[in-house]
Amino acid sequence: MKIVLLPGDGIGPEVIAEARKVLVRTGEKFGHHFEFESCPIGGNAIDDFGDPLPPQTITACKSADAILLGAVGGPKWDDPNAKTRPEAGLLKIRKELELFANLRPISTYEFLLDSSPLRRDIVAGTDILFVRELTGGIYFGESGLRQEGDQEVAWSTMTYSTSEIERVVRIAAEAARGRRKKLTMVDKANVLEASRLWRRVTARVMKEEFPDIEYDVVLVDAMAMHLISRPTAFDVVVTENLFGDILTDEGSMLPGSMGMLPSASIGSDGPGLFEPIHGSAPDIAGKGIANPLATILAAAMMLRYSLKLETEAAAIEAAVDKVLEAGHRTGDLARGGEKSIGTTEMGDLVVAALG
Ligand code: IPM
Ligand code: MN
Repeated sequence: MKIVLLPGDGIGPEVIAEARKVLVRTGEKFGHHFEFESCPIGGNAIDDFGDPLPPQTITACKSADAILLGAVGGPKWDDPNAKTRPEAGLLKIRKELELFANLRPISTYEFLLDSSPLRRDIVAGTDILFVRELTGGIYFGESGLRQEGDQEVAWSTMTYSTSEIERVVRIAAEAARGRRKKLTMVDKANVLEASRLWRRVTARVMKEEFPDIEYDVVLVDAMAMHLISRPTAFDVVVTENLFGDILTDEGSMLPGSMGMLPSASIGSDGPGLFEPIHGSAPDIAGKGIANPLATILAAAMMLRYSLKLETEAAAIEAAVDKVLEAGHRTGDLARGGEKSIGTTEMGDLVVAALG
C-alpha cells in the first residue's frame, strides 16, 4: 500500500516521523507492507518550488492509497502581500482530490478531563462526530475586490448546489447509523439563502433515505453556545465549510488538548487525506516537545477509512490509550507538577505498546 506523507511546516515533520514509526510497526505486526513517499506542501514548498502545492505532489497524491499530512504555515509566510500562501496548498489538494467531507471526531478521555477548560461535569461523556463540508461554500465561491471612489470593496460568496449538500449529508447520516443514530444540521437559515437550500435538501434526504435517524437543525450562533453548555447532547453534526471550520476549533477545546484530535478528509473514491486538527505550532517547532498523538490517531483513521484495516486501526488507538493510562504526558497534557516527555519518547512508547 502506498502512503504519501506530506510533513509540511513547523512541527509537521516531527509529528509525521512518529506516525510513520507507528505505521511501520503496525505493518510488521499485522503483515502489511506500507510504502512511503514524502512530498513537499506549504511554506517549505513555496521556498523550494515557488508553489505551496507543486505538481509532483499532486501527481503522487493522486496515485496513492492514502495521504497523511502534518501541518502547513508559519510566520515566515504570513506576509499579506505575498503572491501565495501555504494554506492555498491545503485548499488546492482538498479540491484536486474532491475531499468534500471532513470528519472531525471529538471525544473525551476520562483521564484527561481535568485538562479541559470546561468543568468535568459538562464535558464528561462528550462524543461528537463533526462532518464539515470541505470543498464548497465561501472558501471556494466567487470573490473579488474593486475600487469604488476612495473605497475598496471586497466580496466573498457562499455558494452551494443540491448535489454538494446531498453527498456530504449522506456521509454524515451513514456515520450516524453506525453510532447513536442522531444527526444535527447546523446553518444560518434565518439569514442566508445558501442555508435555506441546505435546510430543504437535508430535510428531503433524511426523510427519503434515513427515516431511521433522528434529525434536527440548530442555528450556528446557538450551536456555538450549546457546544460548550451541553456538548453531550450531540452525536453527528453536519455543516457547511466555514461554520465547520469555526465550530470544530471551538469543539477541539472540549477534550482538553488539540494535540489529541485527528481528522479525515474523504471523497467518493480515491485516496483520503488524514491529518491532526492542530496547526504547525511554529512557537514550539524544532524543540522536540510537540504531542504526536493527534497525527498517530490520524494514521489510525487512515487505516480504518482508506485502507479498510479496522483491526490495525483499533490496535493503534488501544496503544495510545495504554500509554496515556500509564500516565505518560507531553507538555500540552501535563498538569502542574506532572512530568512531561518529548515527541520521540511519546512515539516510542506507542510503538512499544503495540507490542
Ligand atoms: C483547517 C484550517 C484550514 C481551513 C486553513 C489552514 C486553510 O484552519 O483545516 O481547519 O480553514 O480549512
Ligand atoms: Mn480551521
